[in-house]
Amino acid sequence: MSGESETTRNVEHVAIIMDGNGRWATRRGLPRLVGHRRGAERVREIVDLCPDIGVKYLTLYAFSTENWKRAEAEVAGLMSLFRRYILKEAKKLDANGVRVRFIGDRTRLDRKLIDLMASLEEKTAGNDHLNLTIALNYGGRDELTRAVRLLAEDAAEGRIAPADITEDSIGYFLDTRYLPDPDLIIRTSGERRVSNFLLWQAAYSEYEFVPTLWPDFTAGEFAEVVAGYSGRDRRFGAASA
Ligand code: FPP
Repeated sequence: MSGESETTRNVEHVAIIMDGNGRWATRRGLPRLVGHRRGAERVREIVDLCPDIGVKYLTLYAFSTENWKRAEAEVAGLMSLFRRYILKEAKKLDANGVRVRFIGDRTRLDRKLIDLMASLEEKTAGNDHLNLTIALNYGGRDELTRAVRLLAEDAAEGRIAPADITEDSIGYFLDTRYLPDPDLIIRTSGERRVSNFLLWQAAYSEYEFVPTLWPDFTAGEFAEVVAGYSGRDRRFGAASA
């Protein structure tokens, strides 16, 4: 950690568990997918706002390894929404200097989506105004399991000695190897759970649980939550001054 005062440090990396789309729609007598569509609008607004409030990294939990258990039509609708988001937003994201990357296990996704994800990553690779990471078929335990497998292969083939495995070497095998740990993790909709999101990376993150359902979570409310966090004292395990 740097010696600068943690009380004045800016929030650099915000991660969000975007929850409440289904309830938002159901309360209005609408299909759940309408809630997801409305949720995608909030993604657009918040992505646009991040650079203005000093957020350099934004990581969004779009689809978890557990979300496959949902009704087939909802899963298909979400996959189609992700494809359309990429197709519709690619040009604007690139023009705004957003670098987009995806975390999660891609092998279970359909070919068309995998190709769109790869081409968006490639197209925006030179940007650094905002680093947007979308977690798609992501689970913290799955990510750690894949990392352990890779490390075990390296150990079995003599490329690394078990005694030389460090926190940094584990971090290197995670999907997030290029990301700083999140400073702040926000979950909307009033649920107070971590739900398998960034388990390793969240060791020292602050959490904010807000009651607002994701489709109602405006960029203004997001900015307020981030501003409220900026003054907090983070000690990373050290004693207070
Ligand atoms: C959780 O709400 C939300 C999801 C599983 C999907 C998140 C997806 C979006 C916000 C759509 C757009 C995303 C991108 C990146 C374009 P829920 O359905 O579990 O809500 P509930 O708990 O009220 O049922």
